[in-house]
Parts: sequence; C-alpha cells; structure tokens
Amino acid sequence: MTGYWNETMETLPLKELRELQLKKLKKQVKHMYEDNPIQRKKLKNAGVSPDDIRSLDDITKIPFSVKDELREHYPIGLQCVPQEQVVRYHMSSGTTGKPICCGYTREDIDVWAELMARSLYAAGGRKNDVFQNAYGYGLFTGGLGFHYGAEKLGMSVIPTAAGNTARQILVMKDMKTTFMGCTPSYAQLLGETLEREGVDVVNDLHLRAALFGAEPWTPELRERVEESLGLKAHGGGAFDHYGLTEMTGPGVASECEARTGLHVWSDHFLAEIINPDTGEQVAPGERGELVLTTLSKEAMPFLRYRTKDITVLDTEPCECGRTHPRIRKIMGRADDMLIIRGVNVFPSQIEHVLLQHDELAEPFQIIINRAGALDQLVVKVEQRDTSVSAESLKKTLEKELRESMLVSIMVEVEPPNTLPRFEGKARRIIDERKVYE
Ligand code: DLL
Repeated sequence: MTGYWNETMETLPLKELRELQLKKLKKQVKHMYEDNPIQRKKLKNAGVSPDDIRSLDDITKIPFSVKDELREHYPIGLQCVPQEQVVRYHMSSGTTGKPICCGYTREDIDVWAELMARSLYAAGGRKNDVFQNAYGYGLFTGGLGFHYGAEKLGMSVIPTAAGNTARQILVMKDMKTTFMGCTPSYAQLLGETLEREGVDVVNDLHLRAALFGAEPWTPELRERVEESLGLKAHGGGAFDHYGLTEMTGPGVASECEARTGLHVWSDHFLAEIINPDTGEQVAPGERGELVLTTLSKEAMPFLRYRTKDITVLDTEPCECGRTHPRIRKIMGRADDMLIIRGVNVFPSQIEHVLLQHDELAEPFQIIINRAGALDQLVVKVEQRDTSVSAESLKKTLEKELRESMLVSIMVEVEPPNTLPRFEGKARRIIDERKVYE
C-alpha cells in the first residue's frame, strides 16, 4: 500500500523542510521567551535571545531541558499560555518521583491528531479499517492520542482500552478488527491468549496491521507477534511508533512500510543526537541520545529536551518517498542501561538473544543482585513448552548471552506461564541491590 496522508508535508524537499524548521524554531523560541518567565530566565542566563537564532545550527546555543525541570516546576510552571487556552492535561508518572504534567491548547490537540493520522496511514491504515485501540485511556497519552488520530483518518475506532483480554478477543472477532494499537507487551499477551484459546487467527480474525509503541521491542518480537496475531497472514505487519508525554505523547516518529526506521515528523519536531556524556552532537549515523525540540507547541513547548532514549538518526532518503529523517528502533533508555562489571547491557540486547529460541515464551525478567562485591545479572526466562530440558536451555542461553554481551549472565529457566505479563508497558528489571544499600 502506498500513498501519504499529507503528501505536501511528508515529501517536502529536505531544503524546504529545513527552512520551515528554522522559521518555526524562531517562533517557538520567541513564544517561550516572551510568555514564560522561567523559560525566559533560563535563556537569558545562557546568553540567548530569540534574535540569536539565525540558522538551525544556532540551536546548539540553547541549553538542554530535562525531566527534572518539569518536576521542579510541577505542575504547570513551564506552561506558556494562560489557563483558559488549555483544553486538556495529560500526566506521566514514570517509575520514580513526582509525575510530570503537560497541557494542550486546541491547536496542540489538532496537530497531535494530524501526526497520529499520518502515522497510522504510513503503517497502511485507511478509512475502511476497524481500529481497536487497546492503549490505556486516561492520564496516559497513548489511548486518547491514537483515538483522535484514528478518528481524523476516518477509521472506525473501537476504544477498548488496555486489559480485559477476553473482551478484546470477542470484539476482534465480532467487529472484524483489521488494525490494532497497543504496547508490544500487550500484543504478546494477546497472542498467547489467542493461542491458548485455540482461536484460528487466520480464519477467525481479520487483523492486518498494528502500530505498537511506548516501550522498546526487538525485530524478533515483531516476527513473533506478526505470527501470533495473524498480521502476516492477512498481508500486513506490525509497525513501530515512538513518542513521549513531553512532546505530544505518541505522534513523534513512526515507521512507514519500508520499515527502515521511524520518520520523525520534522515539520513539528527537530531531532538531534548527542553524546550523552559530553552533550556534543554526534556525526550522522552515530549512536547517541535523542534530543527533541518542539516546533509548534503552544501550551508546553520544549527546547532541546533530553529524552534519554538511545538511537541513531538517518537522513538519507527513504524508499517510501518521505523526506523526514528517521530514527532507528530505540535500543533502550539511558536509565535502563545496566552496567555490569563495566559492561553496558540493554534489556533489548537480551531480548534479541532470547527470542531466537522458539522454545521460550516472550516474557523475561532481569534481576540485578550483588554477589559479594560484584553485581550479578540473573535473567529469568520462561519455557513455552518443556520439549527441551530446562538444564540444557540454561546452558545454551548462558553461553549465547556471554558471547553476545561479553559478560557472564546467569539464567534461570521457569516453567510455562509463570512470569508476569503486562497490559501496558512491561516492567522487566528488578534491582535487588537496593536491599543491601
Ligand atoms: O509512551 C507515548 C506513547 C504512547 C508512545 C503510545 C507510543 C505509543 P511516555 O509514557 O511519556 O509516553 O513514555 C515515553 O517511552 O521516552 C521511551 O523511553 C519509551 N518509548 C515510547 N515509544 C517507544 C518505542 C509514551 N516505540 C518513553 N520504542 C520514551 C522504544 C519507546 N521506546
């Protein structure tokens, strides 16, 4: 399936796209400088005034922003419009500390819906699709973000929200759902449940495509859920979608059918990749931390927001014809990177090794504990069936993980259906070291 939701914008020649970004960046900086005292003070302290932004490279004059500033000025100290212009608030709690709170004007909601419509369209979504939205509705941005975008596109939206798997399956069958939205963790759970209940996903279901996001997931997991939900059998597939509450929620970057990265919708966001230790921009094609600047936000704009998400930015043209630069699949968050005896390990690297084994179910857990003075990593995996003995699985996996990660990792093999499943984002890392501190 080809085509674009907004052809002019999605295929704007790179030079024009950059000119548009500069024009919008200037306006965004001016808005923040003039309309929020905290932002003005921050820019003044850095010696930057709106007139100093004359080229896109001038963005490096602007200081970074970080999540702690949102917490410090909680709930709405960083808001740049008066209360009566705000039509919605979302919040995100994260795993620690105070929540963050982001407001939206009517225009912010319209832009968000446009970007979600684009994203769904790029993944093959069309007016005649029945879209089952199993992202959480509420303070979390996933549910309402997808909802507005899918409605704007003209899909028939069924707002099932996350959870109640039996009802999800009933709706999928009866309403002939063709397009699914949820976290990849919930897709796993749905797939397992369908299999356990003996649902024939090829003949009883009509699922063709899915847009999964809100947490990291590997190409191996993509293969599995495409199979377990019957997406491949219906000629489609699973696509990756990226976003964060501080930008809009979902709607920042999305995969097209070429599936060679996620297009960052660059008429509304400016992406940079930096070395997280030095703060310097890295060369194109190099891995680092994604830093995002909003270009159109009215209520809660951000300049150079450090996402902590680790990826690579590719600017070469994409075969789909969209000109917007792509980020590669997110490897993980800098926060989730485990440093085990000096070696950096991302949970997604572990998932990559595990899911090459058909005899394993998708869920796994990473436990960090302290054996004497040294940190030790234990990976709990779950057998799909017991055709291969737990002992031999343990040996094979320990060897493969050691060879791939260059650090020894202990494996514990658990019987089928024993590790936790998640309806939203998975919580895979359990840090037991805190007990000893
Ligand atoms: O998770 C927004 C969202 C909803 C995105 C639905 C996609 C689909 P937060 O709860 O603020 O917002 O979490 C944002 O989740 O910084 C990443 O670490 C992670 N994340 C989001 N999408 C992806 C993805 C939503 N596709 C944080 N791959 C981000 C990897 C992702 N990580």
